Amino acid sequence: MKLWGGRFRENESGLMEDFNSSLSFDRRIWREDIEGSMVHAEMLAKCGIISEEDLEKIIGGLKNIYEEIENGQLKIEGNYEDIHTFVEIKLTEKIGEAGKKLHTARSRNDQVAVDMKLYARNIAYEALKSLDKMIEALQKKGAENPAIMPGYTHLQRAQVVTFKYHLEAYVSMFKRDKKRIENSIELLNESPLGCGALAGSTYPIDRNYTSEKLGFCKPVDNFLDGVSDRDYLIELLSDFSIVMMHLSRLSEELIVWSSKEFDFIQISDQYATGSSIMPHKKNPDAPELIRGKTGRVYGSLVALLTVLKGLPLAYNKDMQEDKEKFIDAVDTVLSCLNIAADVILTMKVKKDNMEKAVDKGFLNATEVADYLVCKGMPFRDAHEVVGRIVIYCEDNNKDILSLSLEEFKEFADIIDGSIYDYIQYKNILAKGIKKEIEI
Ligand code: ARG
Repeated sequence: MKLWGGRFRENESGLMEDFNSSLSFDRRIWREDIEGSMVHAEMLAKCGIISEEDLEKIIGGLKNIYEEIENGQLKIEGNYEDIHTFVEIKLTEKIGEAGKKLHTARSRNDQVAVDMKLYARNIAYEALKSLDKMIEALQKKGAENPAIMPGYTHLQRAQVVTFKYHLEAYVSMFKRDKKRIENSIELLNESPLGCGALAGSTYPIDRNYTSEKLGFCKPVDNFLDGVSDRDYLIELLSDFSIVMMHLSRLSEELIVWSSKEFDFIQISDQYATGSSIMPHKKNPDAPELIRGKTGRVYGSLVALLTVLKGLPLAYNKDMQEDKEKFIDAVDTVLSCLNIAADVILTMKVKKDNMEKAVDKGFLNATEVADYLVCKGMPFRDAHEVVGRIVIYCEDNNKDILSLSLEEFKEFADIIDGSIYDYIQYKNILAKGIKKEIEI
């Protein structure tokens, strides 16, 4: 079923009907579609374009449709071209002639643009809430587990950090993600309603009224841009891609940490699965899936950039391709954030193993060099001396803290008993960047 047909002599091919229909996915924006229609109808009545009586019928009918969809009485299905067609035909079935007046001074081009902006804005607020949950989970887990652990570069043990500090690196990432999304909300928040198909309409409409009622900060400046702008979807997809990249990095660490090689954490049974053949296996599937699903969101971003890149102004049907990609990315990022937060909250932290790992790998070598510098040795010479101390320890299977003062003095006579305090891990942590956190 469609909203046009007058100028066609032949029927549309069945193949084309299926190919063209967007109902199977734009059904997801039904709330926004009805919300936009209600405000549009109010504006039409306020500007004297439809009567108060028609407005009452239209609002009553739309409310009724909203409730029926919400409680499952009315299913969004059937041979309708899109969600806009579905709502308008249902409205006319319910209220008769007045329903046919709803689309006055409006095109599906500005209608779909406003629906998608409302949907994108709602989703962006949901993503902010999910990011808050993620941040809280990381902060809680860090606070509950005051363990020291190796910090890595090149995945080689480098210097000592704390588990809390490590998790807080992700808190910083997710806080930046929130700012990016807030910025995207600010940029998208202009109303395209009233742009018509591409060049407005001859009716005395009030775009400021609809803009304000729908919570936008102002109507868009240019109609051609208003109906064909999909920047905000691309921008949010880019924000979501960065969120997924952060989640994927965190997932990678959880996967590595839960291996026997590291054994720093144990993923809860709630978020792991077993093997059908190897009875002993417990696999970190939740973080693996998050890492894997990152590609879907990147894919949606690249797909939409590609859809848009060659389009002339203004609306083109290519733009219908935005919905499946955007909706899939939304579903992915929201579910991954929610699952990741729970994986963090439910995992077991193996404090002793983290601390044992600190003892191996010369994580205080840099501080031995700093000690020598404090005693007057130039840093480059100190670096060389500590390099030799490390070789000695490796050859003799010792760690630096276990060397006797005599052994230390073989390398530099300026070393005295104060070195032991200086290079204790807890003391190292209390200085430098680590003084920012409680140990
Ligand atoms: N389903 C269409 C979309 O998603 C709605 C707009 C249709 N406009 C048109 N001129 N055919 O883009």
